Amino acid sequence: MKIRVFATAELATVYVAALVESLITREPHPVLGLATGATPILLYRQLVAFHRQGLSLAHVTTINLDEYVGLAPDHPQSYRAFMEAHLFRHVDIPAAQTHVPNGLAPDLAAECARYDALLAAHPIDLQILGIGPNGHIGFNEPEGALKTRTHVVTLTAETLAANARFFPDPAVMPRQAITMGLESILQARAIILMAFGAEKARIVKAALSGEVSTAVPASFLQMHSDVTFVLDEAAASGLGAPVAEASAPLVEHFSR
Ligand code: GLP
Repeated sequence: MKIRVFATAELATVYVAALVESLITREPHPVLGLATGATPILLYRQLVAFHRQGLSLAHVTTINLDEYVGLAPDHPQSYRAFMEAHLFRHVDIPAAQTHVPNGLAPDLAAECARYDALLAAHPIDLQILGIGPNGHIGFNEPEGALKTRTHVVTLTAETLAANARFFPDPAVMPRQAITMGLESILQARAIILMAFGAEKARIVKAALSGEVSTAVPASFLQMHSDVTFVLDEAAASGLGAPVAEASAPLVEHFSR
């Protein structure tokens, strides 16, 4: 497990964007696992900037983690619409190479199976993750038992409260979502979890240094061999001195 701490979210994002760019230029058919939420918005903005400077994403396949059940792809609060607005519309990825679960599928079990087949056919090279305030990744919520594969989840009260900010009318916010499962996420070759802000400090500490437990789904990342937590100083503030010391030169370097 690697931890990289930067003075600001902007600096942290430049680091992640450079890693993504390197994968895109190195691999003939890179598969990116993508996340939504406020955290990766800057990353997508940076990738769009790279594209405008000549980076092609035409050979990239993207697979998103999750989608709200009941929202049409063109609903402004759907994750498909989020990805179109922040990334897909601005770059040259063919639409057929971008994948988000279909929240309107008439048969949700069949949609989950379709997504698992898609994941089997396109193993993820690099999975980008955010983290919910309760430790969820994708929409894998803290539960007694975590699901391994794509499934329908009933969102917790904490997640509904956290994500209500994206819905002008929180009353219409879906109560369920389709999400990739924990095992599917852990099958990515490499994983980058980004977390910014003091409100993430407690859960980042729990995910990194607490027990591996279904109470904190992100703690399962401890079992993966190539995971990097990319944090700003506020999100890293709950971690002990060794982490702060180890990252100090980097923070200094990138804050100049
Ligand atoms: C949503 C998404 C997660 C994301 C989380 C954190 O619940 N399903 O994939 O990591 O929000 O969001 P934010 O980055 O806005 O804190």
